[in-house]
Amino acid sequence: MNELDPPRIPAGWRARPASQQPVYPDAAELAAVTADLRGRPPLVFAGEVDSLRAQMAAASRGRAFVLMGGDCAETFRENTANHIRLKLQTILQMAAVLTYGASTPVVKIGRMAGQYAKPRSRADETRDGVTLPSYRGDSVNDHAFTPRARTPDPRRMLDAYLRAGTTLNLIRSFTMGGYADLREVHSWNRGFTANPAYKRFEAFAEEIDRAMRFMEAAGVDFDALRQVDFYSAHEALLLEYEDAMIRVDSRSGRLYDTSAHLLWVGERTRGPQDAHVTLLTGVHNPVGVKIGPDTGPHDVVALIDRLNPTGEAGRLSLITRMGAGRLREALPPLVEAVRADGRPVTWITDPMHGNTITADNGYKTRRFEAIMEEVRAFFEVHRALGTVPGGIHVELTGDDVTEVLGGGEHIDEAGLAERYETLVDPRLNHQQSLEMAFELAEMLKV
Ligand code: PEP
Ligand code: CO
Repeated sequence: MNELDPPRIPAGWRARPASQQPVYPDAAELAAVTADLRGRPPLVFAGEVDSLRAQMAAASRGRAFVLMGGDCAETFRENTANHIRLKLQTILQMAAVLTYGASTPVVKIGRMAGQYAKPRSRADETRDGVTLPSYRGDSVNDHAFTPRARTPDPRRMLDAYLRAGTTLNLIRSFTMGGYADLREVHSWNRGFTANPAYKRFEAFAEEIDRAMRFMEAAGVDFDALRQVDFYSAHEALLLEYEDAMIRVDSRSGRLYDTSAHLLWVGERTRGPQDAHVTLLTGVHNPVGVKIGPDTGPHDVVALIDRLNPTGEAGRLSLITRMGAGRLREALPPLVEAVRADGRPVTWITDPMHGNTITADNGYKTRRFEAIMEEVRAFFEVHRALGTVPGGIHVELTGDDVTEVLGGGEHIDEAGLAERYETLVDPRLNHQQSLEMAFELAEMLKV
């Protein structure tokens, strides 16, 4: 990357409809922040982004499986070494199990190091007769319900940039410095299956044990396996921030959004002619689009026309979030349309966002069983149609929170109150994440 190159940014998005954007009170301050960001170093590098593209292409063919996970909304408060390490550990543990189940490499991507902006169903929130702007994520405003906290502040984008950078730095040292050692990760998984609540996975963990003993006997160099590739992703929601992070790669002359390796567009902002999609048409990163149950076959083809006109494998992932009850009817026509079109996509399931419910005691939650049901349905549909289920996208944390109902710990509605910490959507906790990975690995084996 050469930050001195004049930015040849695809400014076309500014002329397009842009929903879900904060209204900043001070335009001059916004301009100063984005000018500052434009001069800062990239957070990710073109070569890394290209490797991820190649791995997303492998996943579209069933030669790899994508595991994308992390918070619904990262927060500045939880931008600590411990939170980052536990989340990374959870994803690495899941990946080890899935690698065995799928017998393919697992592409590890964190909803981390930049997942700081959220689309909201309402622009404002009213409490006790007081109306203020909605919380839109820590890169926009603060969650506290005061006029000052809720006023969008562009300087928060700089804070988000710096925190994303320190998060990536820690991830890079963990994944390059031996923390991801497969033997270590597997021993954590043995700890999980030793818990009586998860006894049913013990035989599976023993199979992995045996496979590892075989690898060792056959002379596999485990030390060479101590380093893993780990990528970052977030929703490209905040147009000014993403625009300011675009850089020209001096080697290829291409534009990259250097805020993360992969960017996705959310269900609420995915209009093919709208600003968010337009911004991503101009960069070379692998991109994703969230697809809800009301998406039509023409919509997905229009998205392919815009985001992957030349049909390069690995460029575009469609992340379906249909709801367990609707996927079997809503997904097949889309898969058929994409197949008829012929340009490749990587199909990924997000079994979280179509299964959000409100518990009787008011908590926004999801049922573990509904989440697993959507995953199962996703696999069944693709297997029936002969297409490739390429990966999974989940909201999780490494902490012992109680936000999702059910699972081996049988979290019930009353139990949600114990440790409900998310500011936006409910996340699988550490144990529920591993339970999902073991169940999914069994699905992948067949
Ligand atoms: C999300 O991933 O947190 C999100 C808001 O998803 P969607 O756009 O699918 O609703
Ligand atoms: Co969410």
